[in-house]
Amino acid sequence: MATGTNTLWDRFLAPIVRSFIDEEALQRFDRSVDWEAEVDRLHDSTLVYPDYYRSQNFHGIRGGYLTSGAAVSYDPITGYVLPPNETWVRQSAIEAITVRPRRILDLGCGTGSQTLMLKRAFPQAETIGLDFSPYMLFMGEYKAKNAGLEIGWRHGSAENTGFADRSFDLIALALVFHETPTEISQAILRECYRLLSPGGEVIVLDGNQQALRQTDWLTEVFEEPYIKEYSAGNVADWMRQAGFAAVTTRDFWWIHQVTRGVKPSAGSSPEVAETPDIADFDLGALAT
Ligand SMILES: C[S@@+](CC[C@H](N)C(=O)[O-])C[C@H]1O[C@@H](n2cnc3c(N)ncnc32)[C@H](O)[C@@H]1O
Repeated sequence: MATGTNTLWDRFLAPIVRSFIDEEALQRFDRSVDWEAEVDRLHDSTLVYPDYYRSQNFHGIRGGYLTSGAAVSYDPITGYVLPPNETWVRQSAIEAITVRPRRILDLGCGTGSQTLMLKRAFPQAETIGLDFSPYMLFMGEYKAKNAGLEIGWRHGSAENTGFADRSFDLIALALVFHETPTEISQAILRECYRLLSPGGEVIVLDGNQQALRQTDWLTEVFEEPYIKEYSAGNVADWMRQAGFAAVTTRDFWWIHQVTRGVKPSAGSSPEVAETPDIADFDLGALAT
């Protein structure tokens, strides 16, 4: 699946991670899917992939996210690269949410791991996952069907979604901004601002920018083309520049961060819904 470049990941870490992964089972699953038909069903033929996305071999995979190999191997590998535990890291973003959402959008949803957790935390909310890759969307849809969760899946661009103004009250982005050039992350936040109703909230979970600046090897290990410019920036500043108020960043386990912002109501302080009681969350169902 990987291109076999000579990075630290390829030489040392990939062989270790691979020893924990049943590659044969993944390949069997990959072969069992009629990708041509599924991609045809899920993809929007009017969508044009920008160069910053189409041209990159994310994580050293030739063709990046526009391949079945990337989609099938994403979850097993992600389980090993989000210390201390993928579910805890993802849950830190769920716990930062203070609105009681009716409509949730997960931008750059990938294989839907965060989308499924959002739906479980807020089962009453209509939830949609959007991604550039129909291969990743297929995996999200497959997981949601197996879990009996009703989630909408949309092939699209996070910076130009096509949804109506003020049509969501919670937008999440998990592990996306370290994979987009800074100007695109900023454009995505402007799109979030347009899409949120007043009082609505945006939540961004990603690598801790300060920690990444202090540990050069972390920005080199995973073959991420834009991670250096991501680590040089500041998601909280980008949120404020997009118009968000009450912006806060919380570190989680030193190498992750969750940044949250609220779209203010016109002429007043942010109209955030009352913080939900912890009993409102279906915490038992959060584990994926
Ligand atoms: C590292 S994955 C994260 C997936 C998922 N959010 C998660 O938490 O596992 C990044 C995802 O963002 C998607 N992506 C990157 N840039 C995008 C954009 N501009 N619009 C839509 N999706 C994008 C990629 O296709 C990929 O599925």
